[in-house]
Amino acid sequence: MKRMLSGIKPTGQLHLGNYIGALSHFVEYQDEYEVYFFIANLHCITVPQDPAELKQNLHDCVALYLACGLDPERSTIFLQTDVRAHAQLGFIMCCHTYLGELNRMTQFKDKQAKGEKNLSGGLYTYPSLMAADILLYDADYVPVGEDQKQHVELTRDLAERMNHRYGKLFQVPEPLVPKVGARIMSLSDPSRKMSKSDDSDKGCIYLLDDLKKARKKIMSAVTDSIGKVHFDPENQPGISNLMQIMSSLSDNRPMADIEQEFEGKGYGEFKRAVADVVCARLEEIQNRYREISESGMIEKTLKEGAARASQVADAKLSQVQKAIGMDIIL
Ligand code: TYM
Repeated sequence: MKRMLSGIKPTGQLHLGNYIGALSHFVEYQDEYEVYFFIANLHCITVPQDPAELKQNLHDCVALYLACGLDPERSTIFLQTDVRAHAQLGFIMCCHTYLGELNRMTQFKDKQAKGEKNLSGGLYTYPSLMAADILLYDADYVPVGEDQKQHVELTRDLAERMNHRYGKLFQVPEPLVPKVGARIMSLSDPSRKMSKSDDSDKGCIYLLDDLKKARKKIMSAVTDSIGKVHFDPENQPGISNLMQIMSSLSDNRPMADIEQEFEGKGYGEFKRAVADVVCARLEEIQNRYREISESGMIEKTLKEGAARASQVADAKLSQVQKAIGMDIIL
């Protein structure tokens, strides 16, 4: 069975972009692959965090993994810091990454371009840690949204570099980016990605948003003056974004089908239909989230997940250390 790994960095609450671009697909892949899904809590601290808030976000992230349908019997679910090999291989990968490669990573460049001050060294080198996350498990596939594809491509380069230098050490992974919904845009500014670090929260729907609030965000989503429900991301980015959201949450319903249903109808009616689809899914997730939060399932899932993941990761780390000449006794 082919292996798959992915993770989410809960620097804030998980949002609809995370769900549509990544988490909903994790759930679909559980039966097809041997899957490892983790919470990237080391990646979280690449930007300053309030400890109490971070703890709550980690809890919510695991609860939401389960509420969205990940099953701990079929998926290995764990916290990155519970498997120490991530940090260790992370440093080794960092030592095999060129500065030129890190300089090309758009996420860091974007933050720098925005003039953000005191960016951390961890933020700069985090693609190397992400490579370690993936390579520790010899993952064949890494399901991610569009914005993470560049990091998986760097991971491939690093895997090939190390395989070439030390003999075959790593499986070279492939990114799996969904055809629809790989880049959900902000509702208040459809030229920007929906993101936890949005300045205002009007553009971002959180999975734990109050349903009325979520509905309001959709009803006030920025559209255009063309007045036609038509899929054209370049000229109608707001409407096309809402269509992507609707399609992804309705079994990839074809765009032509949505266009046909709303032909001759106003944007208000279309937005109400999108809000219905989104709120129905959020309600389902939130009900399960509440049950899971009170069930003791989170601790059990993480404990068992860390034990299973550590077995695979520790063996790979030993193999790497041995190959690069770092161990005497192994
Ligand atoms: P993160 O936490 O920023 O995002 C988690 C996943 O959600 C996807 N995503 C989106 N998809 C569609 N539209 C959006 N607006 C949107 N925003 C986010 C992301 O592409 C991602 O798949 N570095 C990673 C976490 C990570 C990881 C890994 C992932 C750490 N190690 C190893 C895969 C494998 C991150 O910050 O994702």
